[in-house]
Amino acid sequence: MDRIDPLRTNRSQFLIPKVNGKTSIYFTGNSLGLQPKSTKQFVNEELNDWAKWGVEGHFHSKRPWLYYHKFSKKALAKITGAKPSEVVAMNQLTVNLHLMMISFYRPTSTRFKILIEAGAFGSDQYAFESQVKFHGLNPADAIIELSPRAGDHTLRTEDIVKSIEDKKDDIALVIFGAVQYYSGQFFDIAKITEAAHKAGAVAGFDLAHAIGNVPLQLHKHNVDFAVWCGYKYLNSGPGGMSGVFVHERHAQRFDLPRFAGWWGHQEKERFQMKKGFKPMTGADGWQLSNFPILTGAAQLASLEIFDAVGMIALRKKSILLTDYLEFLLKEIPDFENQFHIITPSQSRERGCQLSLLMKKNGKKVFDRITQTGVIADWREPDVIRVAPVPLYNSFEDVFQFAEIFKNALR
Ligand SMILES: Cc1ncc(COP(=O)(O)O)c(C=O)c1O
Repeated sequence: MDRIDPLRTNRSQFLIPKVNGKTSIYFTGNSLGLQPKSTKQFVNEELNDWAKWGVEGHFHSKRPWLYYHKFSKKALAKITGAKPSEVVAMNQLTVNLHLMMISFYRPTSTRFKILIEAGAFGSDQYAFESQVKFHGLNPADAIIELSPRAGDHTLRTEDIVKSIEDKKDDIALVIFGAVQYYSGQFFDIAKITEAAHKAGAVAGFDLAHAIGNVPLQLHKHNVDFAVWCGYKYLNSGPGGMSGVFVHERHAQRFDLPRFAGWWGHQEKERFQMKKGFKPMTGADGWQLSNFPILTGAAQLASLEIFDAVGMIALRKKSILLTDYLEFLLKEIPDFENQFHIITPSQSRERGCQLSLLMKKNGKKVFDRITQTGVIADWREPDVIRVAPVPLYNSFEDVFQFAEIFKNALR
């Protein structure tokens, strides 16, 4: 499979960490993506231009800093299924979640609830809770958390849609992690968005575990807004660039409240320092601050690779890799007594991550595989998350991992 893999050469574009002097099996691209070898060059170019030009680099550097947020638009739009005007790289994920909610969570006295998946990522939960309190509401009344049916580990789309319908007069916002960070479930964005809109609510998504992992059609699926971070599958570096999607139909919603800053102001007037904020149309109008060039440069290095490969080819390999991993894990004798794969087994309901719910000795098994050169991820209380990433993981990685894991269970 590695020999006939059209993406086999991409692996050599990345720096793969070593454990005990040996190349690791890096299955944690869902937490921190690997460094492209080209990142140094991209960042160095900016450092050199800063040295050469000082402040004039805003105009004269190879990629003029004044317009830097524009350089990632095309690639981000392709990855998210958006128009370039609908996306912009800025800030960090939680900051962007707040900025989006200020505009798109508009509770009224009767319609003020937020529908989310139970067990959402901590930062998202805190953002929702604090937004609700900001509007003078009680999180216990305003946040509805959807849990899987008894005995299930993931939500069924029909149940999500039904919950939205049942509460159609109360819900102001439906917001899901598009790929759930713990279970790895890839939710049906189109169906959830459609149901939210039918109910008269706004639909938003946290793409932290989805962007660069699964195919997205945010524009076509009518999603109102989305946020993501760039340090997982997008390989933009620790704490790297985040971004937002705002659907075109909101491009000129200047009536919406928003927290403003000069980088969101009309570009031609930005330096005139006049009174009165006039937002740019599209996602750009939600920017606050001038662009962080060094982390932005790191992002461009990775986006260049994404652009060359394309999400279709990535997804194709991703499905093969993860299906292969699932197949090998289920070949382990007596596996049902040792672990349960809580991630859905249908490819269309998952990205590359598999979450293994350990029935016994979970932490011990995790420590053993770590000592044997696997870099994976342990989630309390009992889940090992593994993510073969199609850009840099091989079928051999998957095979080796399965062998190591099988031995660690003994
Ligand atoms: C689903 C999800 N939401 C939010 C965050 C927090 O992102 P940030 O630190 O960029 O705000 C993460 C980070 O891993 C995440 O996985």
